[in-house]
Amino acid sequence: MKQPLCLFFVLFCVFSRFVGATTSYTWKVPAIYVFGDSTVDVGNNNYLTKSKTKANYPHYGIDFPHSRPTGRFSNGYNQIDFVAIHMGFRISPPPYLSLNDTNNHQILKGLRGVNFASAGSGILDSTGANIITGTQQLLYFETLRSKMMAQPNADQVAQRLSMSLFLISAGGNDALAFFATNNSPNNSAVLLFYNTLLSKYENHIKTLYSLGARKFSVINVPPVGCVPSARVLNLTGGCISGMNQIAKGLNDAITALFSKLAVALPGLKYSIGASYDLTLSAITNPLSFGFKEVGSACCGSGKLNAQSYCTRNATLHTV
Ligand SMILES: *[C@@H]1O[C@H](CO)[C@@H](O)[C@H](O)[C@H]1NC(C)=O
Ligand SMILES: *[C@@H]1O[C@H](CO)[C@@H](O)[C@H](O)[C@H]1NC(C)=O
Ligand SMILES: *[C@@H]1O[C@H](CO)[C@@H](O)[C@H](O)[C@H]1NC(C)=O
Ligand SMILES: *[C@@H]1O[C@H](CO)[C@@H](O)[C@H](O)[C@H]1NC(C)=O
Repeated sequence: MKQPLCLFFVLFCVFSRFVGATTSYTWKVPAIYVFGDSTVDVGNNNYLTKSKTKANYPHYGIDFPHSRPTGRFSNGYNQIDFVAIHMGFRISPPPYLSLNDTNNHQILKGLRGVNFASAGSGILDSTGANIITGTQQLLYFETLRSKMMAQPNADQVAQRLSMSLFLISAGGNDALAFFATNNSPNNSAVLLFYNTLLSKYENHIKTLYSLGARKFSVINVPPVGCVPSARVLNLTGGCISGMNQIAKGLNDAITALFSKLAVALPGLKYSIGASYDLTLSAITNPLSFGFKEVGSACCGSGKLNAQSYCTRNATLHTV
C-alpha cells in the first residue's frame, strides 16, 4: 500500500498548488487575464450604461447553458470560454466590472483571473465609442493588481501572476475602423496605420510585463473582410480582399513584434493563435469544419442577414 499512497501524495502536491478554495478543479495555470474585444468579452459591456455595443438580450446566448444571454457576442460560449475549459477551469474568468467585495476572494489571491475585454474596443484608443479602451483595460488591471499585492501573501501573488496566462484578442476593430475611413489606402497610409498600432501594442505588452506578466497568448486578427457585414459591400457576396490584406499585414507585424519582445524581455513566453488561418480554412472548406453556411450572418436581417444587429426581432438561422 505504500507506493500508491506516495503516488497520491506527490500528485496531490503538484496539483494542489492551483486548486481553488471552493473547487476541486486542477488548473494548468493559476489564472487567466483576458484583454481585447467582442471575440473574448464575457459581459463587461453589460455594465456600461452609455454603450450600445451589448449582447445581453436574445437571440444572443441561445445555445449557452439555459439559453441565457450573458453579454457574449455569440450564440453560446466564445473562444475564451473554450480556452479556460481546456486549461481546467469550470468557466472562464468573470468580467472585471462584475467584481465586488463578496465575489473577489480567489481573484485577489491571484487565482482564476479576470476578463477586462470590451466589445468594440481596439488596440488604438480611438477605436470604438463608449467601450473600455485598450489603455483603460490595462489601467483596470493595474488597479486590481495593486489590491492583489496588498494581500498578506504578496510574494505568492506575484509568483502566480508570473505563471498566469495573459490572453489578448484585439486588432480586428482597428482594422475595420481604418478601412471605414479609407477603403483604398495607399502604401504609406497602410504603413502609418501598422506603425501606430504596433507601437501601441508594444507599449501595452511592456506595461503588462512591468506589472509581472510573463506568459502571453495572442489571438491574431481574423479575416475581417469575410464578416457578413463586410461581404454586403461586395456585389458577389465574397470577402473584401483589401480588408483581409490589412488584417494579414497586421498579423505579420504582430508576429514580428513578439519575436522581437521575446528577445528583449527576459522570461517572456508567448504563443500566437492563428485566428486568421483557422477562420479562413473554415470559410474555404466549411463542411470539413461542420458548417453549412459561412457567408451570411446567423442572426440579423436584410442582405446576407447582416444589415441589422441581432435583436429579439432578428431572423435567426439555426441550421
Ligand atoms: C457581487 O456580484 C455577484 C455576481 O456578479 C452578485 O451576485 C452579488 O449580488 C454581488 N454582491 C454585492 C454585495 O454586490
Ligand atoms: C496616401 O494617402 C494619404 C491618406 O489618404 C494621403 O494623405 C497621402 O497624400 C497619400 N500619399 C500618396 C503618396 O499618394
Ligand atoms: C468580391 O468577391 C470576389 C469573390 O467572390 C473577389 O474575387 C473580389 O475580389 C471581391 N471584391 C472586392 C472588392 O474585394
Ligand atoms: C421588435 O418589433 C416590435 C414590433 O414590431 C417593435 O415594437 C420593437 O421595437 C422591436 N424591438 C426591437 C429590439 O427591434
